[in-house]
Amino acid sequence: MKSPIAVVVLAAGAGTRMKSARPKVLHPLANRPMIAHVLANVAALKPARIVGVVAPGAAEVTAAFAPYPTVVQEKPLGTGHAARAALGALGRHAGPVLIVFGDAPLVTTASLRRLADTCRRQKAAVGVLGFKARDPSPYGRLIVENGELVRIVESKDAVGAERSVDFSNSGVMCLDGKLIASLLGAIRNDNVKREFYLTDAVALARAAGHKAIAVAGDETEFQGINSRAELAVAERALQQRLRQAAFEAGVTMTDPETVWLSADTKLASDVTIGPNVRFGPGVSVARGTEIKAFCDIEGVRIGRDAIVGPFARIRPGSDVADEVHIGNFVELKATRMGKGAKANHLAYLGDADIGARSNIGAGTIAVNYDGYGKWRTHVAAEVFVGSNSSLVAPVSIGKGANVTAGSVVTEDVPAGAVAFGRARQVTKKGRAPGLRAKLKDRAAEAKRAKK
Ligand code: UD1
Ligand code: MG
Repeated sequence: MKSPIAVVVLAAGAGTRMKSARPKVLHPLANRPMIAHVLANVAALKPARIVGVVAPGAAEVTAAFAPYPTVVQEKPLGTGHAARAALGALGRHAGPVLIVFGDAPLVTTASLRRLADTCRRQKAAVGVLGFKARDPSPYGRLIVENGELVRIVESKDAVGAERSVDFSNSGVMCLDGKLIASLLGAIRNDNVKREFYLTDAVALARAAGHKAIAVAGDETEFQGINSRAELAVAERALQQRLRQAAFEAGVTMTDPETVWLSADTKLASDVTIGPNVRFGPGVSVARGTEIKAFCDIEGVRIGRDAIVGPFARIRPGSDVADEVHIGNFVELKATRMGKGAKANHLAYLGDADIGARSNIGAGTIAVNYDGYGKWRTHVAAEVFVGSNSSLVAPVSIGKGANVTAGSVVTEDVPAGAVAFGRARQVTKKGRAPGLRAKLKDRAAEAKRAKK
């Protein structure tokens, strides 16, 4: 049986280049903190344990690691020093120990597994994930001689021919659990930055007669995030991955580059998405539903064969059942739409329950806020709400009722009733020409007075 893996996630660096009050690893990608992506990717390995290394006083970062434990690296003296801080928490772990960075969220589970498996198979004391960098200048260089990894030279310490090596260190390392304590313990800080470099573990393992290996991977996975610009690059890469996964799940996107997904967006097969659609957190869309162009959708479960948009906005706490139609310039907030209900044009439905097959006319407003409290509107099944009506909550409209156009509904309407909530129309026969003449004279008079 394979010995289990342990994972150490380093997240105690200062992250100064982000120029942010927020710790770097808490900056979001696809609406989820960077560190949550890292944890999801390593958790998929089903490791025996995951240990985070955090800076002193980083309560939010510690909370983001939950339920996994963290240890504090008292001073940021380098990656080797940070990894050493985790040794106590690892206990007597004999299997491979993967060390990953909290600021490299694109590293895939598959690459991590490949590194651990290769280390096991080749009985390597140390293994690293490497890649050919287009611009290797920010990275440690992997020095390979006769097909063997002999050492890693940090960029600032590289001299001569080492500078032109483009095989770069991703930062992901796998150490044999039986040797990790002695290797990390031997790391010194005699280098340009006066830091304890984790990367020195390679040369130290070799000097002790052990084997070190490099496993090559693709650059797109290993881009670390040190600045806002790199955050944006990672976001792009992640969006592309999420869209690819959606395609593979059977989703059609007519202009995929303009569709923005959250890490937790769930799209079923035969969902169609038009251009310029943003999915905020907490959205699931069932089979056969179409989301037309320019929609902003967040916190909602959308059922099957529904049509949403174009230009619809759905806000959190909503639930849209099967076969619902939500048309242009319709906003939903904490609103439930029953099966087959329709709100096709220009409506605000906030804190409302709309029953099955009910029709909400153009311009309908669920008046949910009185300046102090939010109140709910209940519309039962098969109700017809005429255009330009205000439903002043709290208010209920019974099954099969009709609300006539332009009504301001302030009292409950019983099932089957017709409600008129508007002034009665007055029609005066033959009076239009006279009215027009009067209005014309008045305008002429005002013009004269101005001169
Ligand atoms: C590191 C590697 C470099 C590699 C590059 C990949 C070392 C010495 N260098 O350099 O070979 O090419 O990553 O991006 O390992 N951290 C701590 N405590 C510390 C210092 C860092 O927890 O004292 C954490 C940071 O939060 C970060 C990670 O370690 O998650 C990497 O630190 P960073 O300073 O970004 O290392 P690089 O200079 O990028
Ligand atoms: Mg870095």
